[in-house]
Amino acid sequence: MSSSHIALAGATGNLGVPILQALLDAGYKVTALSRNGGNSSRLKPHPNLVVKQVDFTSADSISPALQDIDVVVSCLATLAIGSQTPLIDAAFGAGVKRFIPAEFGMDSRNPLCKELPVCVPKAAVQQYLGEKHKLRPSFTWTGIANGMFLDWCLGEGLVLNPEKHSAILYNGGDVPFSATTLADVATAVLGIIRHQSETENRLVYIHSALVTQSKLIKMAVDIDGKAWQTTLKDTEDLKRESPAELAKGAHADVEAAMLGFCFCGMLHPGYGCDFSDHLDNDLLGVKGLSDGELRAVMAAEVRAHLVITQVASPIGTSFRNLFNSSSFVESRAQKKKSCTFEWMNDLRKKPSGVRREVRPTARTAGLTPSESCDSPDLPADADDALLESWSSEIFQQGFETVFGLSVGRNSCPFVDDPLCDVCVPATKLFGALDACIDEEVGQDSLSREGRTPEAQGQKEERNGEIDKSLRLAIRAYTARWLPLIPDRDPSQRDQDEERIKDTWRAARREMLKVINRASYRSILTLCLFAQTPMPSGISEEEELDGLSGLVCLHTALLQIQRLRERQKKCQFRGSEASPWRSAAISSVPSPDRTEAFLSLESRAYWAAVVWDTSSSLTSNFRASLTSGLKGACEESVWRLSRAFLLGSWNPKAEQWLAKGFEVTDDTASQVFSAAAVCGVYMWKCITSLKEALIEGVDEEGVLFAWSSLQEGLEIFRTTLCPLLCLCERQVHFLDQLRRMSWYQINMKYYLGVLIMLDILEAAGRQDLLKQVEEIRMEVEHESFNILKFGMESSYTIYGPGDGLGSSMAPAGVLDGSTPGITASLIAVDPCPHHVVDYVALMHTALIDKYRRGKMKYEAYSYLAGTLGKALDQLPKHSKSVDVAHQNLRDSFQKPGSMTIPG
Ligand SMILES: NC(=O)c1ccc[n+]([C@@H]2O[C@H](COP(=O)([O-])OP(=O)(O)OC[C@H]3O[C@@H](n4cnc5c(N)ncnc54)[C@H](OP(=O)(O)O)[C@@H]3O)[C@@H](O)[C@H]2O)c1
Repeated sequence: MSSSHIALAGATGNLGVPILQALLDAGYKVTALSRNGGNSSRLKPHPNLVVKQVDFTSADSISPALQDIDVVVSCLATLAIGSQTPLIDAAFGAGVKRFIPAEFGMDSRNPLCKELPVCVPKAAVQQYLGEKHKLRPSFTWTGIANGMFLDWCLGEGLVLNPEKHSAILYNGGDVPFSATTLADVATAVLGIIRHQSETENRLVYIHSALVTQSKLIKMAVDIDGKAWQTTLKDTEDLKRESPAELAKGAHADVEAAMLGFCFCGMLHPGYGCDFSDHLDNDLLGVKGLSDGELRAVMAAEVRAHLVITQVASPIGTSFRNLFNSSSFVESRAQKKKSCTFEWMNDLRKKPSGVRREVRPTARTAGLTPSESCDSPDLPADADDALLESWSSEIFQQGFETVFGLSVGRNSCPFVDDPLCDVCVPATKLFGALDACIDEEVGQDSLSREGRTPEAQGQKEERNGEIDKSLRLAIRAYTARWLPLIPDRDPSQRDQDEERIKDTWRAARREMLKVINRASYRSILTLCLFAQTPMPSGISEEEELDGLSGLVCLHTALLQIQRLRERQKKCQFRGSEASPWRSAAISSVPSPDRTEAFLSLESRAYWAAVVWDTSSSLTSNFRASLTSGLKGACEESVWRLSRAFLLGSWNPKAEQWLAKGFEVTDDTASQVFSAAAVCGVYMWKCITSLKEALIEGVDEEGVLFAWSSLQEGLEIFRTTLCPLLCLCERQVHFLDQLRRMSWYQINMKYYLGVLIMLDILEAAGRQDLLKQVEEIRMEVEHESFNILKFGMESSYTIYGPGDGLGSSMAPAGVLDGSTPGITASLIAVDPCPHHVVDYVALMHTALIDKYRRGKMKYEAYSYLAGTLGKALDQLPKHSKSVDVAHQNLRDSFQKPGSMTIPG
């Protein structure tokens, strides 16, 4: 049957994405129908996927795209389901055999449901399809009633809010209702395609589980031991509120009203919300969830909200029709709008994630608040709790976002997966990898001796410990930004330095446990600690009396290598001829778990390579994962990176340049992702040169490293610079995340070149320096510009509002109106150590120029003052920043020099 050709309308939506994935995984040819100017550019190519842009209001526009199509699946947005007539007409005219309309919810055959405005168009569509069938009997239809989207609604905080641990209990909270995961809906679509005769001209009923709100809450309490706040509401109230909202006409919040009607149909017994006695699960291959699996879905949600929840977004916008977390940060503030529904406004306050896929098995990292309170290392008082929740926001909107982009859809040279999120946060990635391993181990033990409660308990305990260590590392990592939190009691601010030291000490103690624990989250924990600077005021004795960041990093890199080797089936992408393989983080569990695991692992490995390369460039330690001298030329990691840049990126860049390149948030994001890959490649080349010079290899070896570096620079200058220049002209019009990316890419490029120049100076290689004279001049000029850009552009980290810490914070402190942190890019840059190195190298170059008489004092004084101001903006209370300040001051106190300007 996989010879059938399927057209999918709305393939880019919440439901469309997992259905598309399932169809492609099953080997179907798919034509994705997308609005002209819609979201189709976000679908990456697949050999079996054709994307056609159409006008959904015109059958003539759609018809050509439906020639030779057997089945049309419509996943159009809720607000567009009343406009499916042209799509149906086109399908009818083109000879399509089966039409699956956008239903996917309540029982639209139930007489009460049919009356609800949200259901009226669905019933009308069914009637229209029936009429068409009469005209041509080979034209048939099937609707899917799946009740509530279980994982999606939990993720959005709609039916319960696992993040706030709060819920509105409708009709008492004990009404059993059918709920289905997006993955199971996708399975049902495949089932209909395979069983067309059994499903023709009717509604099929599926669910993953029959649940009640109370049951789900009980599961959440079992998982984290935390009490929920609940209020009661009758869906009859919604039946009054929703029409009242619609009656506002042009000012109505239509989506809120429709959601109200959906709750009426999905949470009231009279509306047939329990499908148990007429399910088509068996026919369609929908296995459903056992209680244990349901609990895992809930656990994923509870934990996801503790550590993983991403930057915030209002509810609405076509049921969260967004792929990319990046646009959420700014849209949150802009899009909040008032609504007469109090319950709806409450939902609107909630921060939401990137398009989040919750697989029953995918556990994500997180800590339970009860663990937090029990531990002496975790928050004890109200200010601590406030800082705890801010720490989470700073982490999510800073590190997680920047990291997520660096391994996401466009940025990992080892994996090509058009359906992967643009941003894959670290906690989600490393958590999902652990979940895969747990699942495999679990299945293994199950097949041998059955899963005992003791074994399950031990697993939970171990996971709790891993999560706790990660949480402590996150706190220590983010503590340096806590002084930026607005509106705090000044007396509390005085304690910041002590607090920063304490969080660092607590995290370092924890590293002793983590270091022997091989798990992906432990690797992330170690790497985070490695990136946490030594706080000011830690004595040298104390510094030496315990683990260092560098040891943690190297242990983490070793562990990632060991885990890779331990996975017997895991053949590293890097050793394969072609890097382009699909299926990474996807809504639908891959039939081939190894494949899914490999994709995730490749992203994590790329992250590790980036950390390793960065550390070996800026310290004097060799890289652990890839070797030195010829590393950038012969190892598979680097060959793939090069292939990505020259084979995949370059043709696209050339095409963009030839056809005219419009700078948008999306295109800029793609350029910045490629530039980031190129930046890492270049850093590796520079490291190889450094090692060749430091280790005194023969001249042939040095020249070999030098020519590879020249090539790396050339790739950057030819394949990226022209597009980066075009982006630069528009940079002020891009959103803050793109501005941050722009700043970081440039800063890292110039930092790399500054290190290269420094190495050549130190080695006395004037011959090589001469060859890069032009680059040196460019760097002297541009490096200041980029520093100023970083100082003058601002970035906002939104306040916790009703987020993670609200439960622990004193009443009224985190009420959603907490002001955000707005500071310069430099001030919130998750990698401030790069700025420290950057300033130091620029200062060395300045002094050199000044001493050689190539610069007047006035210019020197102005530029050195700028460097001082940049350091002023970096997070306080860190030893490396103190030392950088001191060095800058010292240079002005040397004989013949002057006092520090500024
Ligand atoms: N049972 C539940 O709990 C539940 C929850 C949510 C949704 N649903 C149902 O599931 C189906 C799909 O919903 P969804 O959330 O996946 O949809 P969605 O993400 O909001 O939108 C799906 C796609 O529809 C296309 N589209 C066409 N016309 C549009 C318009 N006027 N406005 C916005 N987008 C438009 C867009 O694709 P292009 O840009 O590519 O054209 C969009 O990506 C609907 O039938 C909905 O009612 C059920």
